[in-house]
Amino acid sequence: MCQQTNTESPEFQVLLNDLPENDFNAIFKTLPAFHERLKKDKGDKLGPCFISGTPGSFYGRLFPSQCVHLVHSSYSLHCVSQVPRGVVNNKGNIYIAKSSPPNVFKAYMDQFHTDFSMFLCSRAKEILPGGRMILTFIGRSNDVDSFNLPYYEPCMEEVKAIIEDEGSFNVDRLQMFEFNDPNGDIDNKYQSAQSMANG
Ligand SMILES: C[S@@+](CC[C@H](N)C(=O)[O-])C[C@H]1O[C@@H](n2cnc3c(N)ncnc32)[C@H](O)[C@@H]1O
Repeated sequence: MCQQTNTESPEFQVLLNDLPENDFNAIFKTLPAFHERLKKDKGDKLGPCFISGTPGSFYGRLFPSQCVHLVHSSYSLHCVSQVPRGVVNNKGNIYIAKSSPPNVFKAYMDQFHTDFSMFLCSRAKEILPGGRMILTFIGRSNDVDSFNLPYYEPCMEEVKAIIEDEGSFNVDRLQMFEFNDPNGDIDNKYQSAQSMANG
């Protein structure tokens, strides 16, 4: 866009987040090669781009108030913050299965509701007015059989209802897509990864 409009590129600050247990050093070690590639692909006209790590749970505040323009969360928000309290008798299952009692399903659903609302209200404080979020996570069409501990895979209607209930964000676009399981066919792992990332 800057090239098209003959304007100078802005400076970029990219804040990478994961839980504190994540090996941030492994990521930081890849950054010199990333910067090289960026320079090769885009020339001197882009950036500079400053990349740093922010350890912490996204189910709480991560960044100072009103300092972020764009939040991108990729394949993470289906991870709930804890196994829901009250899940004591799950009929021998360690995840939601067909034989799980209805109260287990409800406990996971409530946990997702609490966590996702907390995510929305934390990000709402951090995003500048007019900012955007792109959230990609695993959901379900309607079959309750596809859950894995400690995940909750919401359906589109639930996600929309929670965003509307919480009230900080408007939904521009809500889209469901299918992807090939990268673990399913190891020969196609790059293709599968690409299809997930493009999702
Ligand atoms: C399936 S990986 C996705 C990694 C990467 N974003 C991607 O798209 O390939 C899920 C990541 O979410 C992180 N995660 C899970 N719960 C989190 C939380 N509450 N706060 C921050 N990161 C979390 C995990 O540690 C893990 O690195």
